[in-house]
Amino acid sequence: MDLKNSVLKKVLPKHIAIIMDGNGRWAKQKGMLRAFGHENGTKSVKQTVEACAELGVENLTLYAFSTENWNRPKLEVQTLMKLLVSSLKKEIKTLQENNIKLSAIGSLNTLPKKVYKELFEVIESTAQNTRMTLTLALSYGSREEILNTVKEISIKVKNNIISAENIDESIINEHLYTQNLPDVDLLIRTSGEQRISNFLLWQIAYAELYFTSVLWPDFTKQHLYEAIIEYQKRERRFGKTSEQLS
Ligand code: FPP
Repeated sequence: MDLKNSVLKKVLPKHIAIIMDGNGRWAKQKGMLRAFGHENGTKSVKQTVEACAELGVENLTLYAFSTENWNRPKLEVQTLMKLLVSSLKKEIKTLQENNIKLSAIGSLNTLPKKVYKELFEVIESTAQNTRMTLTLALSYGSREEILNTVKEISIKVKNNIISAENIDESIINEHLYTQNLPDVDLLIRTSGEQRISNFLLWQIAYAELYFTSVLWPDFTKQHLYEAIIEYQKRERRFGKTSEQLS
């Protein structure tokens, strides 16, 4: 039986998040510039989006650019921004045809004007799509997101819109960038690193973590199926005992 059919036999994760890592090392292994790795990384993005949509995964969130990534050499940042614009231009039709809604999280107002404009054109034109939500984390940092949330809620408390006693998890969820997304079920990181790197810290509280040594540009649909099969083998207890679940 092929891997895709095995995946479809069991419950799918509702929300997959991916730390796409290893583009630079992939290029270096081939004696090429880092930009070559990023370019090839976009092919893995396409494969992964397609695979998730085909399977029926409802939410896919990709860590495309962190707040810390601004500290990379200027040329590399420019390359990544250019790749984003060209990918958005190229893939808008595919997103429409496949009924995929594009969304973005992060401090989006820090993005170059051209990227911001292209991004919001695609977000607006796919807003009615319902099959899957593809969220790009861009200029994203989880601590910054939590900080903003705390500030916004504090202002509402100060203005008597929310009372401090009523602050609960749902109020926090509503103020995070991911307000419309469910918690992450499966977090994948490629390239052998086993870190979270300031990604969705609140939202991964009960996520299953999956680390693979595959470098992002080598990541294919088959690798995604393998990750989901591993997820499907895990027992998610949410703090309960095994006996309570059965
Ligand atoms: C990590 O590899 C990857 C990134 C910082 C950027 C990810 C971007 C893409 C895959 C391309 C554009 C994205 C979209 C959504 C179209 P790294 O550079 O940190 O690799 P290294 O750890 O081997 O140096």
